[in-house]
Amino acid sequence: MGKLTDDLNEYIKNNKARFHMPGHNGETLSPVYASAPYDVTELGFNDNLNCPNGDLKELEERIAKFSNTKDSLVFTSGTTTSIFVGLGALRKYSKKIAIDQFSHKSVFEAARMWNYDVTIIPREYTKEGIAKPLTSLSDFIDQNPGIKIISLTTPDYLGFEINKDELTALKKKGILIFLDSAHGAHYKVLGTSYEEYADIVCESWHKTLPVYTGGSVLQICSDKAEELVDVCRMLRAKLHTTSPSYVTLTSFDSALDLMNDIKEKYLYVIERVDAIKKNNTQLEYLKSNDPTKLTLNIDAKCFEDAGIMPETSFGRWTNFIITPFNVDKLPLIEGVLKKAKPIKRPVNITIPKAPKKLPRKIKENVAIEFIEIEDSLGRISATDVGAYPPGVPVLFEGQKITKSHIKYLLKTKDHSFNLVNGKIAVVK
Ligand SMILES: Cc1ncc(COP(=O)(O)O)c(C=O)c1O
Repeated sequence: MGKLTDDLNEYIKNNKARFHMPGHNGETLSPVYASAPYDVTELGFNDNLNCPNGDLKELEERIAKFSNTKDSLVFTSGTTTSIFVGLGALRKYSKKIAIDQFSHKSVFEAARMWNYDVTIIPREYTKEGIAKPLTSLSDFIDQNPGIKIISLTTPDYLGFEINKDELTALKKKGILIFLDSAHGAHYKVLGTSYEEYADIVCESWHKTLPVYTGGSVLQICSDKAEELVDVCRMLRAKLHTTSPSYVTLTSFDSALDLMNDIKEKYLYVIERVDAIKKNNTQLEYLKSNDPTKLTLNIDAKCFEDAGIMPETSFGRWTNFIITPFNVDKLPLIEGVLKKAKPIKRPVNITIPKAPKKLPRKIKENVAIEFIEIEDSLGRISATDVGAYPPGVPVLFEGQKITKSHIKYLLKTKDHSFNLVNGKIAVVK
């Protein structure tokens, strides 16, 4: 175990009464409070995420060693915050940045916050609205001179990746690379992670590794690490909540222990996922790069009715994340596959074209109003809007709303982000 967990265990064992935050006082008041003993505030012995120099420093060193990176910063407020920090640290090198169209909303919001001049790298989409991996990035940089920083999403939430040769070519050109690898934290165990191809990588350990929600890592991999690390630590202290979750922090400690001997188990996951595909040729599968993802053409409801909850579903596809901790439950999925009818007909969805440049931020003093999506044609959006998942904006703050936006937003209204009571914010 790491020092943080050892020290908390010691505290839990010896402590007679808690008169400190949080207000559950470490009591398991109901099943909801099962982890309450570990849910503490800064107590002196357990370090402080504002300036780690004890247990949390040790935890970050363990993560960096495991990840083979120059430094690692932990977050319990999600990759959203680590993206703000990572892009903030790179800002001093250039104002000009190229951002992958298929980026999480926090990437665009961070670019606004740090006053970047953003060129959007357009993605192509399949008829079913699935983002195709980016290619020809080197050419894109040649055609847009002056760009020194690039921000890309890889792997994405379905497991599609940008080819690593693309990243090598960018590095050769001296481009600083920020990777949103939120969905690739487990790649380290598979031996296919991105750290050596980028300057900064952010990873949601809580998405695919056994870490409690909110657990994210910002990996500093760059030759410029010495310059970047201190800035990242300063920005984290500014932007992170001053109440980090010690439940999440201790789960990092446990995850590191669990992952020591987990490679074999992951190989078994891959073997089982492959076997399902081979044994069920009546189905179609989305062939992404991540061998631990299973995405197939059966209605999610068939699984939910059988007590199985997938990660996500869209159009005719249902997606499952398989890990060493649920692989033994795969026979339940296989049971449904035997009976359920595959959906053959694709559900087409058109993703609106992205603008070449991220529109200017709406000024703080501009009046806005919330209107029905149907009434918003030709108005200027006051915020980014899209569907969640994947959390990628299809309409940007400052952009004129088109028929294509309206069609998409109406289709995805029940799982959108940044609509308020189903209404869209526009400039008055
Ligand atoms: C690609 C990508 N990046 C970043 C994030 C934000 O991560 P978090 O939810 O950990 O803040 C998400 C979350 O959905 C994501 O899918």
